[in-house]
Amino acid sequence: VPLDVVTDRPRNAETPWVGLLPSQTPSESFFVRNHFDEPSLDPGTYHLRVVGEVAKAKLLTLAQLHKLPAQRISSVLECAGNGRTRMVPTAPGVPWGERAVGCATWEGPALSDVLHDVVPEEGVLEAVFRGADLGIHAGIVAHYERSLPWTMATSPGPLLALRMNGEPLPRSHGAPVRLLVPGWYGMASVKWLTDIRLTSKPFTGYFQKDQYVWDDASPVRELRPKAMLLRPSAGEPLRAGPLLLEGKAWGHRGVQEVQAQVDGTAWQACSLGRDEGPWAWRSWSLSVDLSAGEHTVRVRARDAQGEWQPLEPVTNRGGYGYNTAPMIRLRVMP
Ligand code: MTE
Repeated sequence: VPLDVVTDRPRNAETPWVGLLPSQTPSESFFVRNHFDEPSLDPGTYHLRVVGEVAKAKLLTLAQLHKLPAQRISSVLECAGNGRTRMVPTAPGVPWGERAVGCATWEGPALSDVLHDVVPEEGVLEAVFRGADLGIHAGIVAHYERSLPWTMATSPGPLLALRMNGEPLPRSHGAPVRLLVPGWYGMASVKWLTDIRLTSKPFTGYFQKDQYVWDDASPVRELRPKAMLLRPSAGEPLRAGPLLLEGKAWGHRGVQEVQAQVDGTAWQACSLGRDEGPWAWRSWSLSVDLSAGEHTVRVRARDAQGEWQPLEPVTNRGGYGYNTAPMIRLRVMP
């Protein structure tokens, strides 16, 4: 099923509804978020350059990356701007609906293993990741670049993904190598990765300091808890009687609980599907009985830290991290 295109150039497109139903979003249905045109890297000549401030650069071929022990994780990737158009007032930026999200299996060496034998340098603060794509921003030519705090870069979790859903990484998702930072919003997961630079100074690139920051200038990072209703789908004809509500929920390190509320009555606990690891999303469902007429359904998730998805409107200047519990209207026929 093709993506729902939001902008043509650069290409930005949402996952179609049906792509959100399986536990793994098929790669060809997985949302795409690009700031520039997609580069095309030749796997035969590809090198990843890892360079410190004092150490010599280390070059890794694709074959060398493939030889390192691989990790395989199932992880949600959600754009920080997902849901932006639901914000009141809406914020400038790509006008995402609610489907700039997907969950896939990602496979490749742990970032910490790749950095492991880089000479530990005095005072390393961050690792800066450069993508091969570039364009003009504020009058200067710049690559897509983002940094991770050194402690995060060397912690378990982030990996250099070579495969997605059991196949080589597709071009749109960063072939041949992308950084994947599970549990953080998608901007951290740099595609078409060519360089890793260690630095003792905070990185202040455009996509780090001007974009993807909260109103107090602190960086956007961890996924906020969010539940989505997928079935019944919008406009599906419904008959009075028993009905199964179904959807997905995710958060920084998974969800603990999902609840649904019908017509403003008491919140009810939903059943959770299989736990596919701390970074994956979780299916949820609830059987309800609806009479003929108009009904409202609200769903909310609670993450592993115990934080509930808010019921109040979420707003900020960048239009990031929108996760107000959705209010869905259902029309039931007799
Ligand atoms: N990496 C590069 N090189 N260029 C980009 O434009 N976009 C980022 C991130 N990595 C981006 C990038 C953003 S904002 C998101 S949400 C994710 O990639 C989207 O990943 P996807 O296109 O594989 O879904």
